Formats: sequence, structure tokens, C-alpha cells
Amino acid sequence: MKSIQNTLQIVVVLTGLCMAQVVCASDEGKDLAWKYHCVTCHGMKGISIDQRYPNLAGQNVAYLVSRLRYFRDGVEHGNQMNGQAAPLSDEEITKISEFFNKPS
Ligand code: HEC
Repeated sequence: MKSIQNTLQIVVVLTGLCMAQVVCASDEGKDLAWKYHCVTCHGMKGISIDQRYPNLAGQNVAYLVSRLRYFRDGVEHGNQMNGQAAPLSDEEITKISEFFNKPS
């Protein structure tokens, strides 16, 4: 019983630390995915809501980064993703990609 209590205390402390930190990598990526409405089409955990939209969950970070830069740069004229990626900075692209690689 004692050890269960200890474990619970550790979990509570660690959760508190993550929430208290200004930078908690996956949370930041998640916040950005919500802020830019990525979750609307690609789902809250990267499993898309419709067959028209690709799943992103578990995809390699480097691949996601390169796809988002491609869209942001408007290489493929008329792609639906161009407008979605347009406002993203390099840093935001990395954080969003890390989140969809390991959605939590
Ligand atoms: C309105 C729906 C919609 C929204 C919102 C949206 N996407 Fe997409 N996304 C798409 C569609 C459609 C494609 C497929 C584009 C293609 O076929 O080239 C796509 C493709 C992608 C891909 C490429 C996947 C692959 O396997 O190559 C990535 C990465 C991606 N989106 C990330 C994002 C991110 C990050 C956001 C938020 C900034 C976002 N999307 C917002 C519809 C959307």
C-alpha cells in the first residue's frame, strides 16, 4: 500500500512539473496543432477524421517537417495544405511534427 502511495505521489509530482514548465515539448506541439486547426482534419491524435485526409500519427519527424515546408513554400500550386502551412515558422513545424510523431 505504501509503495502504491509513493508511486502515486511521484506521478503527481512529475505531472505537476510538466504542467509548471513553460516548455513541455509534446504539449507545445499539441497546442500548436489545435491553434492552427490541424486536428480538425488530421484528428486530435493524428488519426484523420475522413478518408480525404492522411493519418499523421507515428509518421517520421523528418518526413513531416519536409512535407510541411513543401506546403508552406507553395511548391505544388493549389494544394489544400498550402494555406494551412503558410503561417508556420520553422520552429512551429518542428514542434507540430514531433507531436504528430508521438501524439499524446
Ligand atoms: C482542411 C483540412 C486540413 C487541415 C485543417 C490541415 N490539413 Fe494537412 N492535409 C490535408 C489534406 C487534404 C492533405 C493531403 C494533401 C496532398 O494530397 O498533397 C494533407 C496533408 C498533410 C501532410 C502530409 C502527409 C503525408 O503523408 O504526406 C501533413 C504533414 C499535414 N497535412 C499536416 C498538417 C498540419 C501540421 C496542419 C495544421 C497546421 C494541417 N495539416 C491542417 C488537409 C488538412
